[in-house]
Amino acid sequence: MKHKQRAKLPPGTMGWPYIGETLQMYSQDPNVFFAAKQERYGDIFKTNILGCPCVMLASPEAARFVLVTHSHLFKPTYPKSKEKMIGPSALFFHQGDYHAHLRKLVQNSLSPETIRKLVPDIEDIAISALESLANQQVTKTFYEMKKFAFEVGILSIFGQLNTRYREELKENYCIVEKGYNSFPTNLPGTAYQKAMVARKRLDQILNEIISERKEKKLLENDLLAHLLNFKDEKGQTLTEVQIADNIIGVLFAAQDTTASALTWILKYLHDDQKLLEAVKEEQKAIFDLNDGGKRPLEWAQIRNMPQTYRVISESLRMSSIISFTFREAVVDIEYNGYLIPKGWKVMPLFRNIHHNPKFFTDPETFNPSRFEVAPKPGTYTPFGNGVHACPGNELAKLEMLILIHHLVTKFRWHLVGSKNVIQYSPFPIPQHGLPARFRKDYKA
Ligand code: HEM
Repeated sequence: MKHKQRAKLPPGTMGWPYIGETLQMYSQDPNVFFAAKQERYGDIFKTNILGCPCVMLASPEAARFVLVTHSHLFKPTYPKSKEKMIGPSALFFHQGDYHAHLRKLVQNSLSPETIRKLVPDIEDIAISALESLANQQVTKTFYEMKKFAFEVGILSIFGQLNTRYREELKENYCIVEKGYNSFPTNLPGTAYQKAMVARKRLDQILNEIISERKEKKLLENDLLAHLLNFKDEKGQTLTEVQIADNIIGVLFAAQDTTASALTWILKYLHDDQKLLEAVKEEQKAIFDLNDGGKRPLEWAQIRNMPQTYRVISESLRMSSIISFTFREAVVDIEYNGYLIPKGWKVMPLFRNIHHNPKFFTDPETFNPSRFEVAPKPGTYTPFGNGVHACPGNELAKLEMLILIHHLVTKFRWHLVGSKNVIQYSPFPIPQHGLPARFRKDYKA
């Protein structure tokens, strides 16, 4: 019998025993760490992060192999402490039938047909967020954008939710968030333990909301309704724990991502006044057609904002908020002559692909007009790719377009002490959350 030649491990270094190259990665910007490795070893290389051997993949073909064509060979993987905090039944921790069922529900509740009905409510949320910004001296843009994204998240999950529930969800969710990136420990009084207590409280609040919804027998089309009405082929419904975990999961996936993207957009627009004028012109034409903003935005108008849309696309490329993702090989896998051993992590590096001059000319220059031509397939994946790709991408784009419309037609903003420094929260955001002064623009 002819022996198949055993594939070799990808090139690269594994660093010190146990800690691997974790210190090197975190002592510099992780993106600089990856870029230096890519330059040295090519598009596929190995390393060890936090005691886990990893294969990093920096080509569109390799990312597609893991996320799309061979996704069944790679399972999602998150630290257990984080899984426990969000809720282990949340869809992004799963594969197979359970994942597929939940994904369909989430996708349906976030489809263009469903979210177009949310436009007037999202406009109200955007206007009130901007009014509140204009009433403050200096604000950290990112934290205000988080409030906006949270409110839109709540709207898409629950429809109109009464203020008491909203406030209680917000209060406890903030505590959970603070603990999410803290050191997991059983010691009472620590951020992690406080977060676990708040997470239980969130379950109780969600149970109350669900009981009320069931009692009133309301016919809604939001995510909660989709989750409550689900039955699988055997007639099995979802448990309250599964519903709660998925609601918290969606809120978690929706908030900081959209808020970081918006914060970058505001920075890029501020830094390029000519571009800002072009966006203003596009939005002002719509504003005037709507009687100076007296009539609500129409769906067709929102779908036809090409200049603004290109600014969003380029901001997502430049900032690459989700710079990479993790999966774990479920069996030994061979890719392009290299072995990816069972149990190793694989990391498709979205940011490296978005910043590769082979795919994006002069990649460090912010240039929305590059999107006048569609990028090469597989090279532009701010919302991921394949079975776990972002089901909230249409909602994210919708809320960004609406917020930009109201911002540029009625407000102006100045950055305070802005430097080109990136901070990780854990998503990349401008330093200190982009302090800025917002004012009503009476000239607009
Ligand atoms: C600019 C904003 C956003 C960005 C850049 C973004 C990016 C992403 C990316 C890259 C993934 C795939 C992660 C992976 O493959 O491991 C993802 C998944 C996900 N996103 Fe988003 N997202 C955004 C906003 C939202 C919003 C607004 C929602 C919901 C309202 C949402 C819900 C989700 C969910 C539930 C998943 C998991 C899907 C699954 O595992 O099947 N995201 N997102």
